[in-house]
Amino acid sequence: MSSKTTMEIDIRKVSASKINTIDFDKLTFGATFTDHMFFCDYVDGKWQKPQITPYEPFTVDPSTMVFHYGQAIFEGMKAYKDENDDVWLFRPDQNFERFNKSAERMAMPAVDEDVFMSGLHQLINIDKNWVQKGNGSALYIRPFMIATGTGVMATPSPRYRFAIILSPVKSYYSGDVKVLIAEHYSRAANGGIGAAKAAGNYAGQFYPTKLANEQGFQQVIWTDDATHTKLEEAGTMNVFFRINDTLYTAPTSDRILDGITRKSLIEIAQNEGINVEVRPVLVHEIVEAVKNGTLKEIFGAGTAAVISPICGFSYKDVYYELPKVENSFGIHLKEKLTNIQNKLIEDTFGWTVKI
Ligand SMILES: Cc1ncc(COP(=O)(O)O)c(C=O)c1O
Repeated sequence: MSSKTTMEIDIRKVSASKINTIDFDKLTFGATFTDHMFFCDYVDGKWQKPQITPYEPFTVDPSTMVFHYGQAIFEGMKAYKDENDDVWLFRPDQNFERFNKSAERMAMPAVDEDVFMSGLHQLINIDKNWVQKGNGSALYIRPFMIATGTGVMATPSPRYRFAIILSPVKSYYSGDVKVLIAEHYSRAANGGIGAAKAAGNYAGQFYPTKLANEQGFQQVIWTDDATHTKLEEAGTMNVFFRINDTLYTAPTSDRILDGITRKSLIEIAQNEGINVEVRPVLVHEIVEAVKNGTLKEIFGAGTAAVISPICGFSYKDVYYELPKVENSFGIHLKEKLTNIQNKLIEDTFGWTVKI
């Protein structure tokens, strides 16, 4: 372990693991948690000694500031077990950096790298048996931070808790995803918090997504708030469009989360000789392309599903179905990326980090 992962942590373990009560073939994504959790409190301007304890409830005052003013951020990442039973993280440095960018935007304190990385490594090491091998199985990792100061005054909290919980997951299959292009609602705005992984961004998406679900669409493709002409994200994923043999995806901005899957796919695609253009993608180009047969694929990209193919979209009450492609870039790129994550092929990018 590197010096960034060996910080001293107070550890209190469970007396008996609950792992034998879990049916790993029947996991609902994000609903089962491992035996232990990690946390570290920020008090009087300093991170205190971190702890690993049994997974258990937090007891908090009803006036705890996170309930009232929403200072809450999180990350989503995965650990994978290889054939030799070694456990690997994928680009944890990127999650750490993004976490602290989110913290800054939400006026929360930065988490020390030692705290973040030691928490990850030591917690996963203790709950290593919960990482299953093969077939898309992984351990979903949820680092998060909440305001734990008390009082109903609308100011940044004086106290925070940074915590990590772990959830074993199977491969995530979203089925055929039909999407609705947003013409009225927005997930993020210029100068807003869309680029932060802040809890409120997700709460704000639920209502328009529910309306889309009621019309038979699984997700919303979010457009820019000012003009609703630029295609920005699909649900809680970045989004790629393939027109002929070029992949297009929007540049990151105030409104778009800088996804780690997105940036990894761009590098892999370029390395494979696929032409990738990072530039605003306009609704009218996609409508035009689907009409003239040049739109081959649309897919979402994110940690949970890796790639989620989109089979059709609706815009201005017209539904457009995508053709079935033989040589899907989405399927090819997903295989490459998951093979790197699961150590089935050489990681020439240097992205994987051993626990
Ligand atoms: C809004 C949003 N966009 C994109 C992503 C994809 O980011 P990543 O690839 O880092 O998981 C996420 C998280 O999964 C997200 O919540």
